[in-house]
Amino acid sequence: MTIRRGVTVLKPTTTRAVALATLALLWIGHTTTAVAQEPANVGKGQQYFDKVCAKCHETGVGPVLKGRDLPEATYIIIARLGRNAMPAFRITDIDDDTLVAVARYLAGTPKNPDQGATP
Ligand code: HEC
Repeated sequence: MTIRRGVTVLKPTTTRAVALATLALLWIGHTTTAVAQEPANVGKGQQYFDKVCAKCHETGVGPVLKGRDLPEATYIIIARLGRNAMPAFRITDIDDDTLVAVARYLAGTPKNPDQGATP
């Protein structure tokens, strides 16, 4: 009900909130399936990360993301909204399915004990 009202108002922030809510639901849907069941998705996530995110996140431009033990939702939300020097990734940059796959890939990377939390 609330979502419907938000869409008719068509404020950009509301639309974005609805998009994020939809994405969150998609993410929840994904987490209810066993990780090992979607090898194709895991591959897709790693591929996109290596091709795009790693250009900053494995080169010192952005903080290391692997082995951080962050929840999947953190990667999804920050990628969609952007943060300071990090650009927002629109649906035309990365579709929801691929972004969920990236988040799952990163959340599943082995924990790195040397990697501290972000200050
Ligand atoms: C153009 C460079 C660039 C690209 C490409 C990029 N990031 Fe970032 N990212 C950054 C920077 C810089 C920060 C630090 C932002 C800040 O100041 O808080 C960051 C921060 C983050 C954080 C928060 C980490 C923390 O420790 O607070 C996450 C999560 C993240 N990025 C995910 C991603 C994902 C997922 C992708 C690929 C879809 C991606 N980023 C692509 C530059 C980039």
